[in-house]
Amino acid sequence: MRLLTLLASYLSVAAAATLGKRAPTPGSLSQVTSFGTAPTKAGFYIYVPKKLAASPGIIVAIHYCTGSAQAYFSGSPYKTLSEQYGFIVIYPSSPHSGTCWDVSSKQTLSHEGGGDSNTIANMVKWTLTEYKADATKVYVTGTSSGGMMTNVLAATYPDVFKAGIVYSGVNAGCFVSSSGGVDAWNNTCANGQSTATPQAWANVVFNMYPGYNGSRPKMQVYHGSADSTLKPQNYQETMKQWAGVFGYDYNKPQSTKANDPQSGYTRTIYGPSVEGIYAQGVGHSVSMRGADDMKFFGFA
Ligand SMILES: *[C@@H]1O[C@H](CO)[C@@H](O)[C@H](O)[C@H]1NC(C)=O
Ligand SMILES: *[C@@H]1O[C@H](CO)[C@@H](O)[C@H](O)[C@H]1NC(C)=O
Repeated sequence: MRLLTLLASYLSVAAAATLGKRAPTPGSLSQVTSFGTAPTKAGFYIYVPKKLAASPGIIVAIHYCTGSAQAYFSGSPYKTLSEQYGFIVIYPSSPHSGTCWDVSSKQTLSHEGGGDSNTIANMVKWTLTEYKADATKVYVTGTSSGGMMTNVLAATYPDVFKAGIVYSGVNAGCFVSSSGGVDAWNNTCANGQSTATPQAWANVVFNMYPGYNGSRPKMQVYHGSADSTLKPQNYQETMKQWAGVFGYDYNKPQSTKANDPQSGYTRTIYGPSVEGIYAQGVGHSVSMRGADDMKFFGFA
């Protein structure tokens, strides 16, 4: 008996060693240090639930500026939800000083361009293979800088992500740096002064992955009307962008409902794949709505 146990643990250590990494421990946040090509030094943390579903889904949950994988792991509801629904959560950790995400360089704003978006997409690909996960259930969400990155990933990897939920971000390409800066702050965008037509913003998305003609992730976007860090106009620009991408008429939404999903919030549905939720009187911190996220992603 004892020998068998010893043999079993020896074999699992050997298996992990062969793969050149420590196997993530189910039920605790674990770092993956080797996952194929990583063009940037973004950290890869993963939460594999103790009750892993067969052919599990994957949620990528992306932290805000000054945040970390650990902080977002503790401060977001996805760990608990992953135990409930059996999906895996990937928590990337920004490699930049100040730890915002690079959403400004040409590299990150291009499919397979060698930026942070590329590194995060490779974390997903590793996880799909390693856990025989379900490629039709891969989702992304994030807050603030992580919300910006959610839009960037939806734009650069429409082939990987099936849906995205953005909390208090800016649209894809809005933070672009004219001088090609990596992880550059863009005041014009943050102040809500980068405005364009739905078609122009859609073209920004199309140009991030030229020639791509497959399906695109459905998008849900939250923003507070009293956001002074990323001005509320960024909500409108983000809705224009995704409405434009899907060919919906931004000026004629399908429906607008007050006090949905809660008092003071307004839900606007532009079409089957795009909806926005505007939170009246709320600042830069719009609370995550885990149970609603589960519905949007299709787990609940
Ligand atoms: C900021 O972003 C806008 C697009 O939103 C771009 O036109 C402008 O050049 C950027 N500013 C800088 C300083 O890079
Ligand atoms: C979409 O792209 C694929 C691969 O590049 C190509 O084979 C196909 O003809 C394209 N379809 C359309 C409708 O453009």
